[in-house]
Amino acid sequence: MNAHSRDNEALHSSTAATAEEAIARQEALPPLTNEEATNVAMQNTLLTPRFYTTDFDEMDAIDVTPVRAEWDVLIAQMKADPNKGHFKKNEDWDTVDWDGMEPKLKAEFIDFLISSCTAEFSGCVLYKEMKRRGSNEDITTLFQLMARDEARHAGFINDALREAGIAVNLGFLTQAKKYTYFRPKFIYYATYLSEKIGYARYITIYRHLEQHPEMRFHPIFKWFKEWCNDEFSHGEAFALLLKTDPKLTTSFANKLWIKFFLTAVFSTMWVRDHQRPAFHEALGVDPKWYAQEVFRKTSDISCQVFPMMLDIDHPRWVKNLNRMEAANVAIAKGRKAGGVGGWLTRMGGSARAALAFASLLTIPAISSEVPDNPRMEPVY
Ligand SMILES: [Fe+2]
Ligand SMILES: [Fe+2]
Repeated sequence: MNAHSRDNEALHSSTAATAEEAIARQEALPPLTNEEATNVAMQNTLLTPRFYTTDFDEMDAIDVTPVRAEWDVLIAQMKADPNKGHFKKNEDWDTVDWDGMEPKLKAEFIDFLISSCTAEFSGCVLYKEMKRRGSNEDITTLFQLMARDEARHAGFINDALREAGIAVNLGFLTQAKKYTYFRPKFIYYATYLSEKIGYARYITIYRHLEQHPEMRFHPIFKWFKEWCNDEFSHGEAFALLLKTDPKLTTSFANKLWIKFFLTAVFSTMWVRDHQRPAFHEALGVDPKWYAQEVFRKTSDISCQVFPMMLDIDHPRWVKNLNRMEAANVAIAKGRKAGGVGGWLTRMGGSARAALAFASLLTIPAISSEVPDNPRMEPVY
């Protein structure tokens, strides 16, 4: 190894101790930016990952005393940093034949990578900001650790994209992407769920490819196991935060919000994944099977704090998810067509999507007993 590559080794985002360092190291790599990828990452629709901002003072005021014992164990685990250096290409990274990849698969896979990179980075931006604005040591320590992980995840996806001559400009996104405001409690519900569903998504693909290695058309999937453990810990942290204030999961209004977020997060995943048929076919995964499997795992896990789970075997469940998906196809068609006709198609699609969502939301939930100690280990 020569001095130059040793420098690069030392300066890779996978070993960065903070999010800021990881981002800077990523920005130093060529190509610095790719406009098309960054434009995709900039999009703000119901289906694309957003950036969030919140009332940081309210979050800074959280007192973790009620969950102190579990909290300290979790923070110590995260500080020990078991995945330091993991998110970097090594000898397991097989050569990727981007030019030989079937064009539809290539387009969908790149879209998947850009969207995943944006979602990872969305977490990083929010956590980093909480760390910057806060003064509560428990909270800032946690958020710095989570921001570090998400920056490494986003950086690693960018490494994969770079091989296809593409990269998302993370620094630019931080400055230019629109931020959506969410009250802290909505941040807890949404972020808790996105961490846990992220875990379930990564581990389900990983286990499937363990059984069918011949379907692994890209090496990044080999990294999903350690990756999902990071997401699992992040979810654990939010479960503990939710436990600090019992009202968040027990009041009537908040239970309705929890049901709303569960339905929104699950249905968004369904619609988004069905937009990538070639990608799922290449993996040998039926998107319906995959979605239900991920929902089942996420439901089982989220009973650690949520007093209910959605009835995903209800006859109205898949039927209305399919309706939402069809409505979404119509909306996209309308947008593409433009003009009055396109506008009408879009409005019709939006109305049908709203009706389907309302139907999903009114499926009775299954209530469940919440344990006193929420802590769980990843078992899938
Ligand atoms: Fe992540
Ligand atoms: Fe995460």
